[in-house]
Amino acid sequence: MTKRACVIGYPVAHSRSPLIHGYWLREHEIDGEYVRREVKPEDIDQFLQNFSKQNLAGCNVTLPHKEAAARNVGAATPVVRALGVANTLWLQDGILHGDNTDVAGFLAHLDDTAPGWDKKAAHAVVLGAGGAARSIVYALHERGVKKLSIVNRSRERAEQLVNEIKIESNIASFEQVGSLISSADLLVNTTSLGMKGQPPLEIELNSLKPGAAVCDIVYVPLETDLLRKARARGHAAIDGLGMLLHQAVPGFERWFGVKPKVTKALRDLIVADLMKDAAR
Ligand SMILES: NC(=O)c1ccc[n+]([C@@H]2O[C@H](COP(=O)([O-])OP(=O)(O)OC[C@H]3O[C@@H](n4cnc5c(N)ncnc54)[C@H](OP(=O)(O)O)[C@@H]3O)[C@@H](O)[C@H]2O)c1
Repeated sequence: MTKRACVIGYPVAHSRSPLIHGYWLREHEIDGEYVRREVKPEDIDQFLQNFSKQNLAGCNVTLPHKEAAARNVGAATPVVRALGVANTLWLQDGILHGDNTDVAGFLAHLDDTAPGWDKKAAHAVVLGAGGAARSIVYALHERGVKKLSIVNRSRERAEQLVNEIKIESNIASFEQVGSLISSADLLVNTTSLGMKGQPPLEIELNSLKPGAAVCDIVYVPLETDLLRKARARGHAAIDGLGMLLHQAVPGFERWFGVKPKVTKALRDLIVADLMKDAAR
């Protein structure tokens, strides 16, 4: 019987998940299907509460339904309980389970592109305090980064993040970035600044110490100004696409029973699609 999964969101047309999972389904010759499914905010609770009637093995969850997903699962992983957001759901023995794979996806990508990064990352500076920043701060803390600095336009939002996920961090403003990064081993942009259609991220990297790595989770464009500047100064520059690809792995394995690999061929496929987007 064909196994089915989908991505739910509102809107959902922009999601690249069907391209990623479709590639793996073909690669592994699995009798499966992965589609987009638009679910309106007013319908999300009912959709999730009746999940077992949808003929789905599970789904990915994108904006704005990640909190609703965490609220409606019958079993949640520790990371979902800590962050209050879920992006990957699956049915197991009739119970809807939820995980947040952005955490593992971010770490897997760093491990892949900058092996050993965690051995030298004593201080990480995270720009942003939105939804994605939660996963990144949690991931860095889980991996043992001792000092975390969160830089956000709205201090209140950064304080809320720290209070909710209960991780000790230093909260700072964009004016302080120059001095903060002089002691940072890792700089991560989790704001939407620098993304196509958004204002630029205007920070200077002059004070960043040699050997520090720079990561931008924005992936449209793939090579952001931040990464370009970092590369020009000789820093390891880590783009946002790998996180997107790696976060998809656990869901595919749950729904279709095979652990897929993030390969260059998959990456090339998605890069080609991103290029189309960047040119529009
Ligand atoms: N690579 C991946 O797999 C992946 C996964 C998730 C997200 N992302 C990307 O990460 C980015 C953020 O997503 P999100 O879900 O965290 O969004 P979000 O919850 O809306 O958070 C947006 C963040 O950007 C900041 N920001 C927005 N406009 C700003 C401005 N003009 N000046 C200063 N700060 C500004 C916000 O600061 P305030 O709090 O002050 O508003 C906040 O920290 C997006 O580009 C998204 O595509 C990538």
